[in-house]
Amino acid sequence: MTTASLSGRKVLLIVGGGIAAYKALELVRLLKKSGAEVMSLLTSAGAEFVTPMSLAALTGHPVRQALFMPEDETAMGHIELSRWADLVVVAPATAGLIAKAANGFADDLASTTLLATDKKVLLAPAMNVRMWLHPAVQANVERLKGFDGFHGVAVVGPDEGEMACGEFGPGRMAEPTAILSAIQGLLAGPDGRPLAGRRAVVTAGPTFEPIDPVRGLTNRSSGKQGYAIATALAELGAEVTLVSGPVAIDAPVGVTRIWVESAREMQAEVQKYLPADIAVMSAAVADWRVDGVASGKIKKAPGGPPSLALIENPDILAGVSKPGKARPKLVVGFAAETSDLEANARAKLSRKGCDWIVGNDVSDDVFGADGNAVTLFTKDGGADVWPRQSKTEVARKLAAKIADHFKA
Ligand code: C5P
Repeated sequence: MTTASLSGRKVLLIVGGGIAAYKALELVRLLKKSGAEVMSLLTSAGAEFVTPMSLAALTGHPVRQALFMPEDETAMGHIELSRWADLVVVAPATAGLIAKAANGFADDLASTTLLATDKKVLLAPAMNVRMWLHPAVQANVERLKGFDGFHGVAVVGPDEGEMACGEFGPGRMAEPTAILSAIQGLLAGPDGRPLAGRRAVVTAGPTFEPIDPVRGLTNRSSGKQGYAIATALAELGAEVTLVSGPVAIDAPVGVTRIWVESAREMQAEVQKYLPADIAVMSAAVADWRVDGVASGKIKKAPGGPPSLALIENPDILAGVSKPGKARPKLVVGFAAETSDLEANARAKLSRKGCDWIVGNDVSDDVFGADGNAVTLFTKDGGADVWPRQSKTEVARKLAAKIADHFKA
């Protein structure tokens, strides 16, 4: 059995109706122990064998059972649930569930989820030996494996042995430890962690430029987008260092966070980390800092407010993009614009010398919000438009695009 950590990985477990359903409970325990987050979905036949209470207690999440439940749909719609997961696992996968999936049925929550997901599906079949060996079941499994342009199906088991019905042969669900290994293999393999072995540096949040010991210049960046990018890169296996200005967000799991305040500190930390494979500079770096920071608090004086002399901050992105040994293979910048997004973003891309730039229309509600609408412009003239969606989704799309770039 492999021991790869599943920290931060998300598994959606569909529990079908079969005596092996009790083993799904042990699987949840093993997944949780490996660090995975698990949500479960219980078919009506599955509920004849295990209770929703057991699954809820073990996963720490409510169990989804029916397609049209307003409470469930407002918490996380079934389509969103099918996308939330990094991997969908069906254990036990009954002949009925396999048949529905192979033939595109969508007449209950489990089959609908299997059709709607954009992730790989792992089946752990469990059924009577005659059923498993039936050409219809075998054909359905082959059919599922053979769909082109689909995210794919993997199968673990079934094992051979004595069955609950007293017969002998292949049909017993694989042991939970074997299913766990299969999950680890899928999530840790080149499919699930395409950025394994890659180093990434991400900047996020605002910078804070002191005026005196109590005052400073800063901006309204929440850091949400940059943190989501660091998380998404780590989820794909990259070793991520997040150089962060002052924000109120917990460090993402598996990411090394380095706190900084000023642009110059941010630049020094980024440089220290190079060379890297990937740099994503999403911080809203203050353009100017105060020349000659006062050592004591500037007092109000009868002569009126002090005038502050500002000087330019270093451009971290432009510095990182400079050709040389330490230059990351892929440098991604951000362009927050209120008009002429494409022209301004492209001009910034060439001025700064980065490879890609995420153009961000900030005339809408972006700062501190959970959603974002962006266009990714690439040096070779490409433009991907990503309509408004959550910052997490934007981050995952960007991370997936980065993974594709390295695969190519
Ligand atoms: O020039 P502007 O600030 O609009 O450029 C935005 C991009 O440049 C972002 O990727 C930001 O992180 C980066 N930047 C930087 N250092 C600066 C200013 C901006 O890295 N001093």
